[in-house]
Amino acid sequence: MLRNVTLLLLAIAHISCQVTKNVRQDVRKFPDGFLFGSATASYQIEGAWDEDGKTASIWDELTHNDPCAIRDCSNGDIADDSYHLYKRDVEIMRELGLDFYRFSISWPRLLPSSFPDNINQAAVDYYNNIINEMLKYNIQPMVTLYHWDLPQKLQDLGGWANPNIVDWFGDYARVAFQMFGDRVQYWMTINEPYQICYEGYGDDYKAPRVNIKGIADYMCAKNLLLAHSKAYHIYDQEFRPSQGGSIFIVYSATWHEPATDSENDIQAAEEANQFTWGVYVHPIFGSGDYPPIVKERIARKSAQQGFSRSRLLELSPEEVEYIRGTSDLFALNHYTTRLTYRNESVPGSFEIPSFEDDMEVIRYFLDEWQIGESTMVKSVPWGFYKLLTKIREDYNNPTIIITENGMSTSAGLVDEDRVINYKRYLNALLDAIEDGSDIRAYTAWSMLDNFEWRFGYTERFGLYEVDYESPERTRTPRKSAFLYKEILRTRTLDMNYEPDTDVMVIDVGH
Ligand code: NOJ
Repeated sequence: MLRNVTLLLLAIAHISCQVTKNVRQDVRKFPDGFLFGSATASYQIEGAWDEDGKTASIWDELTHNDPCAIRDCSNGDIADDSYHLYKRDVEIMRELGLDFYRFSISWPRLLPSSFPDNINQAAVDYYNNIINEMLKYNIQPMVTLYHWDLPQKLQDLGGWANPNIVDWFGDYARVAFQMFGDRVQYWMTINEPYQICYEGYGDDYKAPRVNIKGIADYMCAKNLLLAHSKAYHIYDQEFRPSQGGSIFIVYSATWHEPATDSENDIQAAEEANQFTWGVYVHPIFGSGDYPPIVKERIARKSAQQGFSRSRLLELSPEEVEYIRGTSDLFALNHYTTRLTYRNESVPGSFEIPSFEDDMEVIRYFLDEWQIGESTMVKSVPWGFYKLLTKIREDYNNPTIIITENGMSTSAGLVDEDRVINYKRYLNALLDAIEDGSDIRAYTAWSMLDNFEWRFGYTERFGLYEVDYESPERTRTPRKSAFLYKEILRTRTLDMNYEPDTDVMVIDVGH
């Protein structure tokens, strides 16, 4: 009897401990100096795909040549027309009260030949206009150099699988620093390496759909790490002394959680983390090379498969040295979590060779994580907390900025699910800060609806809805925009706050 009571008390203590972990106080303050922003990317919002000298990117090529590869057969030809409507975009930043706005430069707009022999003045004017308009209202520009719209011409030459891209990217970055670096203090080199290399080169999910599995993805990975490092060193040596900004790469990391507490599944989750994002993090924030398990596994399988060298191209000691430490901040895009397992059914489940076969992990979502209709984002805030904890522990508590987080809904202004999701994820972020993670900024993806890659306009991520039927691409705040505005105004998260969605005004002072 006594034993049963004790067990019961222990069980209650365990449950309440879990509850307090998830629902700490109702109103929580963000640390002093914490910054809030929102983000977009060039191909997803600009439109004007061939205006004023701009040439085609790999996404123009994909959407024009195979329109219905996109869920609604749409494209980014006009998108949000931000090329013409940037003033309204800055007005939205002011309405929200953003500290910074993250956007990207289109390489084929700035350099129509792909190379620095022809700098497009119209593009320089356009990006100057946005930057200057933002600075007028004290909103800091955070600029991504590469958010997936590679010039098609460079893809014809192999794109990220061609080692020459290290110099091409370096040259492009230098032009951007020369043109805009006097006003831009935050530079992001490359957005989401794993998506670029795996989905675009090792698979046919994203442009340029090379789909040479277990080979092109790893060629891309090496070239991308070196290209990023090249841009970092150029900034560090040629521009930082006078411009004084910071420069970093932007990771995307899904959290992988073991499906059971078996040794196999725990190992599978750890390896899924290493294979998907560790490959890009470890060389920069860790020992300077790929994660040992990834190197070892791919080398062993390559040998067994009859290759004369590892499909994961080695980094020489000089390259390791060149890459290590080349990111001033740990910039993280995070959306969701997956469960992982490995059992006897896994070998033989995937094409050989392929990244999936190399990893030997099955990944899936739990139905109960679904809120709303998003096909892409399952709401798992504790996964965010665990990811932030792992980054703190594995990489010596780097300074982190969250460069994307959010969720998609279908069209409509009352985006209850997005409101819930933002609250939950910000709450998890505050838990990590409380535990000692050095997180300095948060970026909501996205400021406004935009072209969501293979999903076209069917998955909406915006704090503001965009009316794609109207020639003006009218932008209207959703309920979540009012929530975000209040969080930014009060610098607190109130889990019970219900936004008052009357009218969006620009606060005096911003
Ligand atoms: C990550 C990408 O950087 C962005 O372009 C995309 O729209 C969001 N995730 C949502 O999928």
